[in-house]
Amino acid sequence: MAEGRLVVRGGTLVDETGERTGDLLLGDEGTILAAGEDLDVPAGATVLDAGGCIVAPGLVDLHTHLRQPGNEEAETVETGCRAAALGGYTAVVAMPNTDPPIDCAAVVREVLDLGATAACEVAVAGAITKGRRGEQLAPLGEMADLGVRLFTDDGAGVQDNRLMRRALEYASALGVTLAQHCEDEALAAGGHMHEGEWSSRLGIPGVPSDAEELMVLRDIALARRTGGRVHFLHLSTAGAIEAVRAAKAAGLTVTAEAAPHHFTLSHALVASYDPLYKVNPPLRTDDDITAVKAGLADGTIDAIATDHAPHPPEAKEAPFDQAPPGMLGLETALALALTELDLPVRDVLGLLSWRPARIAGLHRHGGPLTEGAPANVCVIDPAATWTVDPAALASRSRNTPYAGRTLTGRVRHTVLHGEAVVVDGEAQR
Ligand code: DOR
Repeated sequence: MAEGRLVVRGGTLVDETGERTGDLLLGDEGTILAAGEDLDVPAGATVLDAGGCIVAPGLVDLHTHLRQPGNEEAETVETGCRAAALGGYTAVVAMPNTDPPIDCAAVVREVLDLGATAACEVAVAGAITKGRRGEQLAPLGEMADLGVRLFTDDGAGVQDNRLMRRALEYASALGVTLAQHCEDEALAAGGHMHEGEWSSRLGIPGVPSDAEELMVLRDIALARRTGGRVHFLHLSTAGAIEAVRAAKAAGLTVTAEAAPHHFTLSHALVASYDPLYKVNPPLRTDDDITAVKAGLADGTIDAIATDHAPHPPEAKEAPFDQAPPGMLGLETALALALTELDLPVRDVLGLLSWRPARIAGLHRHGGPLTEGAPANVCVIDPAATWTVDPAALASRSRNTPYAGRTLTGRVRHTVLHGEAVVVDGEAQR
């Protein structure tokens, strides 16, 4: 019989099934032994105070750049997962645009091994094409054999229509999902920000909304043709979201995510020429921000994903047109969602936890918080206000666009497989 090791006491349990006050007793073997009111604390058990807090299934990020192997000056699996745990995540999907890219079983194994001792569970997304070059299919089957459930060339979209169709046919046979970075490279070529009023005023070449929308429309057509599952990464435009809404209404099994910066930051910020605001897809218009929020509210967008993209300071100190795109996200996503989205807390948690867990096939995450379920939990103080300080972040990089912004909602504790990896906002691993 497993022994109770941790008691999460005095919070409101919130999961897909509803809300109730109660404690959790978590066992040595990484499962929830009991969930209910006023549980006895076994001798020797540690108590995590959840007074005034929400106790939720751990968050799941579908879109994390951990940068290892190859770009360890920006992030490592260890530092990225520490940042994730502090942000309330118990699982992240590591993106394959590493060096070498994650495009074969050997590199998948390497990243999974690095993740085995990290502060959150690491799932891996494999590349769709060899070297992410968009020319030949990567060995999807050997990566799927290691448990890879999502494949993407993120950082680039698969441009070749025929290759994408073939990839979807394979994916369908393997029962895996293709996650698309929706960007038509010919239309986007040379662009560094959203093409619109601000790119004209600033004289910076733009990336038109059509670059995203055309690829979304193509993949919807190919998903319909092949029966393959497509997940749309970091959607940023009203037109793309409308296309996904129509595809879902027509019964297609497409899914979509949006990143916090696409519902909190406008392209007008680029007027500072500060590369901290450079990201791909770019920050868009107020109408697009409204559309992302509407998509999150009505279920068109299934998940909030961070697109956590660490870059070292020297890279982000380059001139705007030479700096790499990307922003940190893991430590601010939950608070941004709680602060900026006009949604019930349980809906926000669905977008951050159980819905992405399902898309990634991570069945040990996302709850519900019931006896016998895996003990992957986060405890959130919804009233805590805090100000983002780049120097205080656990990520190895500092490129957050939210420095100085005051947010409401903070992670107090995170429990991974029954072990407290964050206690009172402090990382334990
Ligand atoms: O802004 C971005 N940064 N978008 C991407 O698609 C890739 C990412 C990165 O790897 O830095």
